[in-house]
Amino acid sequence: SDRVMLGPLVAAIDQGTSSTRFLVFNAKTAELLSHHQVEIQQSFPKEGWVEEDPKEILQSVYECMERTCEKLTQLNIDISNIKAIGVTNQRETTLVWDKETGEPLYNAIVWLDLRTQSTVERLINKTPGRNKNHLKHKTGLPISTYFSAVKLRWLMDNVVEVQEAVLARRAMFGTVDSWLIWCLTGGKSGGVHCTDVTNASRTMLFNIHTMDWDPELCKYFDIPMEILPKVRSSSEIYGLMKIYSSLKSGALTGIPISGCLGDQSAALVGQMCFQDGQAKNTYGTGCFLLRNTGLKPVMSDHGLLTTVAYKLGRDQPPCYALEGSVAIAGAAVRWLRDNLGIVQCSTDIEKLAATVGTSYGCYFVPAFSGLYAPYWEPSARGIICGLTQFTNRSHLAFAALEAVCFQTREILDAMNQDSGIPLTQLQVDGGMTSNKLLMQLQADILCIPVVKPSMPETTALGAAMAAGAAEGVSVWSLKPEDLSAVTSEKFEPQINPEESEYRYARWKKAVQKAMNWET
Ligand code: G3P
Repeated sequence: SDRVMLGPLVAAIDQGTSSTRFLVFNAKTAELLSHHQVEIQQSFPKEGWVEEDPKEILQSVYECMERTCEKLTQLNIDISNIKAIGVTNQRETTLVWDKETGEPLYNAIVWLDLRTQSTVERLINKTPGRNKNHLKHKTGLPISTYFSAVKLRWLMDNVVEVQEAVLARRAMFGTVDSWLIWCLTGGKSGGVHCTDVTNASRTMLFNIHTMDWDPELCKYFDIPMEILPKVRSSSEIYGLMKIYSSLKSGALTGIPISGCLGDQSAALVGQMCFQDGQAKNTYGTGCFLLRNTGLKPVMSDHGLLTTVAYKLGRDQPPCYALEGSVAIAGAAVRWLRDNLGIVQCSTDIEKLAATVGTSYGCYFVPAFSGLYAPYWEPSARGIICGLTQFTNRSHLAFAALEAVCFQTREILDAMNQDSGIPLTQLQVDGGMTSNKLLMQLQADILCIPVVKPSMPETTALGAAMAAGAAEGVSVWSLKPEDLSAVTSEKFEPQINPEESEYRYARWKKAVQKAMNWET
């Protein structure tokens, strides 16, 4: 049969907290041609601990590549048209491996993990005035369990293999992007040890003004700088894909890996929020609202983070963003599925919640990993309140969806206060946005329209754009108007604002209970 004639294609690896994907796009239209997804196991060895297996993560990437290539072949699409590969990833998740054996020295400590809570409290107690924002002027971040530096500190303090490898100068630290790029470009036989500025900006070791690792921060956390990856822009050729045994076809060998962005930055790019003031909210395991602030890092007075949005080329300036991070969004649904068994699969939540269409006064604050923005309270814990004899699992399902929307509302309020210019609509993406009930609820709770692109894989699209636009690849235009396949769907608020405010006020009461549940 005839080969389908297409122009250049660009692929993306999207390695998220809950799953891994490999996707292939048409570089002229941004159309998604094929993809494959694999769920990732999480382990919870102790209360509050969250780990993933670095080898399983790598294996899942290979598997997604293999399956996607098979699907393309079935579609008669020539794999050799793939001109570049981008990487986008769950951020902050921390790994250390041995560069001589290529072996991870411990599981990946996932961003949600709380084992460093006591370290964080000790560090904050040491700062003048017990100020969690002590390092914010350099990093844009509060001292929190969320970021990589404290996780790396824990590994160096508690894992003998890590200590030995550091002493023997065999240790490499990285976030998931670094681990994958190192492995895919050859691993122990010449892999490239690098990260991009967006991922680096989530470690707490990176100075977002000088755009480099900061010796003072490294000293503060007592991290040897030689174990850190080299920091590169988000769009340049880092290295070429090497032949690897797990991929039968070897079809992707030699393709440049030329894009790298933390997943939230990638979604901002994929949503084409290139202008100062443009924002997007991504609903994944957590929920992250980023607003582009242009060339200027803006410091928040309302509990938001300042982060590097992207730097699209070695000679391009960095762009910054204000970010509101919510730790638990889709993870609340996963918890209802895995821990309470009230749904069989995550997508069933919509139908279940729709049977009642209200939480019946039940509020669910899923503060499983403390509360992130705007509170940054690691000792907060989850609560479900407002229960009556009447409450059933459908109400609980509805309350979980509402929780995602209320948390986003808190972030949006903070964002509007910080920037002084309220958002008039919210661009959204991520797995949960296929839930129409959730999208309608979100519009109702924000009292502004919610706009969802018809192609939901914006995170991967952003990474593909960065890879395709890199110098030496140059098959992708970054001009939004050049892309024909981008359309969207809009959800308008339907309830009256008073009702919305009433429910939101009750939510805030529930949050106060989650923050002080022990006292
Ligand atoms: O900061 C964590 C974030 O990057 C994880 O994103 O999509 O896996 O929830 P996601």
